Amino acid sequence: MSADNHSAESPAQPYDQGAWWRDAVVYQVYPRSFADANGDGEGDLPGVLSRLDHLTDLGVDAIWLSPFYPSPLADGGYDVADYCDVDPRYGALADFDALVAAAAAKNIKVIVDIVPNHCSAEHPWFRAALAAGPGSPERERFVFRDEPNNWQSVFGGPAWTQVPDGQWYLHLFDSGQPDWNWRHPDVVAMFERVLRFWLDRGVAGFRIDVANMLFKQEGLPDVVPGSQGGPLTPGHAAVPYEHQPELLELYRSWRKILDSYPGDRGTAPACTVAEMWFGHPDQARPYLTGDGLAQLFGFGLMPTPWSAGEFRAVIDASHRLARETGGSIPWVLGNHDVPRMVTRFGVDQDLVRAPTPEVLLGRMDVDAELGTGRARAAALLLLALPGGAYIYQGDELGLPEHLAIPDEARQDPMFERTLRTFIGRDGCRVPLPWSGVAPPYGFGAGDTWLPQPEDWAELTVAAQRDDPGSTLNLYRAALAIRREHPALGDGDLTWLDAPPGVLAFARDPGFTLMVNFGTEPVPLAWHHDVLLASGPLDGDLLPPDTGVWLS
Ligand code: GLC
Repeated sequence: MSADNHSAESPAQPYDQGAWWRDAVVYQVYPRSFADANGDGEGDLPGVLSRLDHLTDLGVDAIWLSPFYPSPLADGGYDVADYCDVDPRYGALADFDALVAAAAAKNIKVIVDIVPNHCSAEHPWFRAALAAGPGSPERERFVFRDEPNNWQSVFGGPAWTQVPDGQWYLHLFDSGQPDWNWRHPDVVAMFERVLRFWLDRGVAGFRIDVANMLFKQEGLPDVVPGSQGGPLTPGHAAVPYEHQPELLELYRSWRKILDSYPGDRGTAPACTVAEMWFGHPDQARPYLTGDGLAQLFGFGLMPTPWSAGEFRAVIDASHRLARETGGSIPWVLGNHDVPRMVTRFGVDQDLVRAPTPEVLLGRMDVDAELGTGRARAAALLLLALPGGAYIYQGDELGLPEHLAIPDEARQDPMFERTLRTFIGRDGCRVPLPWSGVAPPYGFGAGDTWLPQPEDWAELTVAAQRDDPGSTLNLYRAALAIRREHPALGDGDLTWLDAPPGVLAFARDPGFTLMVNFGTEPVPLAWHHDVLLASGPLDGDLLPPDTGVWLS
């Protein structure tokens, strides 16, 4: 194989080499479904603390905790009633402090989720706005109007709800999530206090929820019909509630706050990682350049079907954008909003390109063995790419999407808001299986808040721990190698010539990744050693749907 260097040009400005988050592996904890210490069927912070060994064994650098704040759970906690406390169902602030301290003792940093676009309808300021009535200063912190415009909620249905006095309030998500008015100084000041509150408690950074929204275009113009997305198909056209110019200024002011903290016990500033879907790299460029966010999730691989060419196109575009801007775009293959990759890769891949109404209802054939093999290969790709990576809880166990949750047990507001045409995101949020052969699989004591499948006995942490061929041990081995190998982490890659359907790249010094997306075995690239393979090799051949690390 000959070298075919397609790596992007040098960065426009020097990399901030010291920042820990540029090549960190971060594990996403969805607290409600991680581990349940008090036996009420929902996970909690003491549960996370009790299972920290799982994360040290895995070898991650940090955890990101999805919201655990007081919330009526209209949207699984992304409807925040108090930004500076812990919901009693998850514990108390003392439990949070204990978790941060215990994690720090094991060299694991803690990132929290900040939800600035909207709060909960139970937030005291929204309740005060409702009580104070039309024209009141309290209403100005939100977006109240006498007439709605044509905006649709991202979750389906109108983005406006009428209150008894006749006014309408804007909610780009559920009606239980009123949007803040970011042109109001109280809102700006409140979130500065929230950042400081958690920084003072020792967090290593923030994941910023729907970071592209917040400011809405003055005058709230109607959107051009058809430019908004739908479930699993985010819109790509410019809409008047995204990417407004004030956003950059806001994030620069947040960056100053973050940089005023010593960060990780004096060694590096805290990170911000933005949840920001963008249709064109030019939309993302300003945030990544200079003194703003500097880090956006690299979501491009999640909607990408199992195809060498399509994977390579996404990798090239994302890596080039990071290099050109000097920013960081950590790779993501799963999170709490998308179907799990075992299932995505186990269906007819045309359905990933264009989900049909049956797919939105979870009614499709899934080859779990095929999907598992591909998801394992994809994990080796994820952890070999330049930069940081995020692992969603349960992906290290190879969990599939739970497609058979009964309708009456579904919790995601998208199910009802799409008039039951989309089953929603519950299937990737099912409580983790820790041990045992039947639900609740060691998650807690009783019934779990979402039902677990009956056939997860072989997927539990306990079942996988001592099986050298398990997905859990594949992740552990990959992370152990990644920590030691000088070529892995941040840096560049060099594509190698490879047969059709195969991705191969080299990283200096002395590391090669190959993934066979095709249907025929292919010869391994030249190597001294096989460091790790996602499945059995056939002598010097790499079988289909398999990945390998070579040195
Ligand atoms: C983000 C979260 C998602 C939530 C939405 C509204 O996309 O990841 O879970 O529903 O924001 O807060």
